[in-house]
Amino acid sequence: MKKNILVIPGDGIGQEVTTWGKKVLEAIGTKFGHDFTFDEALMGHVAIEATGNPLPDETLEKARKTDAILFGAIGHIKYDNDPSAKVRPEQGLLKIRKELGLYANLRPIKLFDELLGASSIKPEILKGADILFFRELTGDVYFGEKKRSEDRNTASDLMVYSRYEVERIAKMAFEAAQVRSKRLCSVDKANVLESSRLWREVVQEMALQYPDVTTEHMFIDNAAMQLIKDPKRFDVVLTANLFGDILTDEASQIAGSMGMLASASVGDSVGFYEPIHGSGHDIAGKGIANPLASILSVALMLEISFKLTKEAEAIIAAVDQALKQGFRTGDIADATTPKDKILGTQAMGEKIVALLS
Ligand code: IPM
Ligand code: MG
Repeated sequence: MKKNILVIPGDGIGQEVTTWGKKVLEAIGTKFGHDFTFDEALMGHVAIEATGNPLPDETLEKARKTDAILFGAIGHIKYDNDPSAKVRPEQGLLKIRKELGLYANLRPIKLFDELLGASSIKPEILKGADILFFRELTGDVYFGEKKRSEDRNTASDLMVYSRYEVERIAKMAFEAAQVRSKRLCSVDKANVLESSRLWREVVQEMALQYPDVTTEHMFIDNAAMQLIKDPKRFDVVLTANLFGDILTDEASQIAGSMGMLASASVGDSVGFYEPIHGSGHDIAGKGIANPLASILSVALMLEISFKLTKEAEAIIAAVDQALKQGFRTGDIADATTPKDKILGTQAMGEKIVALLS
């Protein structure tokens, strides 16, 4: 198979981790006889520094033409502490999601058995948890009208959804539930929000077309609690943009660390693959970031965009193997991990590449 992949490292540890996502793709290409070619583009703080624009036109043009995108992370502390900044790195990510029509963000939460001890949640509560989040990605307060009063003392972000936006992501989630355990939980705040009442109405109507799927509806506050109390009660979770952003960071603790979680954003065109973690400016440049989320994002790319299931499984098996051999990055190590088994970004990346060679 011949495919072109656009690598957008972005900011902070994004640079470090995508290096290893790319090297893993190269290793897969060699092992399975695929011809992967690469291009690179700027987005985020690095793009602002170079061009003044968090999403330069050139990046968007390349993104429209490529077969899949591997993205690193976005954000810079400078902006986190400056709410008045007009141009922000995150605008690049939001714009590319909107421009490419990436309305569904799939965030699988799967715990590698070896990492049972890495989470702060009790192992017996975690064991066997396996959740697939469908987070809506191009609507909600993220894209609704933003306002600030003239005296600057009042501000609002419009939480808005239209029927078609709920339908298209719900369809994906229902179809996924059909081939998984046939359980779908739609999370909203329909007891308070009108946009959630529309969301619930649409999902209830669509549930009639999927009689084989058991559909439940849960309020976001309750879902946040249930997720930690009993993660196994969830299988496919469908939710809106903001709720999904928050709930999936929480859910990352089920997988041991944010450093393990990959995501796929799909919709109208090209697939966009990225770790759910951010730019990690506290650890950027230190060579200690966990590259596994980027590497597992590559597995999602192979599976979803290229339908290369065997290749995707080989990556997951290599990660599993490295963990079984006791290797850990700092974020997934615990008190029992011997010092010589704690690897930096490069050593962990090399380990996975070696296991795939
Ligand atoms: C994510 C991130 C982004 C989001 C930020 C960086 C804009 O937190 O992908 O989860 O809020 O969607
Ligand atoms: Mg987030």
